[in-house]
Amino acid sequence: MVSRKLLYVTAMPSHSAQRLGPKPEAPFDHPDVNRAFIGTLVREFYRRVRADERLGPIFAEVIGDHWEPHLEKMTDFWCAVILKNGAYSGRPVPAHQKLGQVREEDFDIWLAIFRRTTTDLCKPEVAAVFVERAERIAQSLKLAMFFRLPAAGIPQRETFNGQS
Ligand code: HEM
Repeated sequence: MVSRKLLYVTAMPSHSAQRLGPKPEAPFDHPDVNRAFIGTLVREFYRRVRADERLGPIFAEVIGDHWEPHLEKMTDFWCAVILKNGAYSGRPVPAHQKLGQVREEDFDIWLAIFRRTTTDLCKPEVAAVFVERAERIAQSLKLAMFFRLPAAGIPQRETFNGQS
């Protein structure tokens, strides 16, 4: 017998059925946080990134003297992440996958600068939201860039010849 729940789901118009997935995150509603504020935060963050001895040269190689479009794009990105206004429609994963010189540990530097910048510029409750989102996105970028499944069937070194 078809359950009542299933009937309900299949009878719903498709736009309602799509809402059955995880609930979308709500926009962060805080009097301090608007595009102007996010733009200031983004600019200060990248000022510090450019001054960093490890990350500065990585960005310089890709961005050169064309910082303004990158800063505007990153402001759009953070507006989309925090205000959910759809301002950004790029593809961060391929943009990072092509950066050959980035190491996994570089993300710790990136996040440390991000944490310091938000602590310096934001109220604690605002900083907490930006940092939580940055950590989540950094984690998924790292997975996309560095995670590889171990090759199936290849024994670990310890069991390969029975000696450790
Ligand atoms: C070690 C860490 C990171 C490095 C070295 C790095 C470097 C870069 C560089 C060089 C670009 C410019 C790519 C281009 O224009 O071709 C870029 C773009 C971008 N980055 Fe990162 N990034 C890092 C981490 C992150 C994190 C954690 C986030 C998000 C929280 C992020 C978000 C973005 C976005 C949204 C773009 C624009 C992609 C596009 O649409 O073109 N990045 N990054």
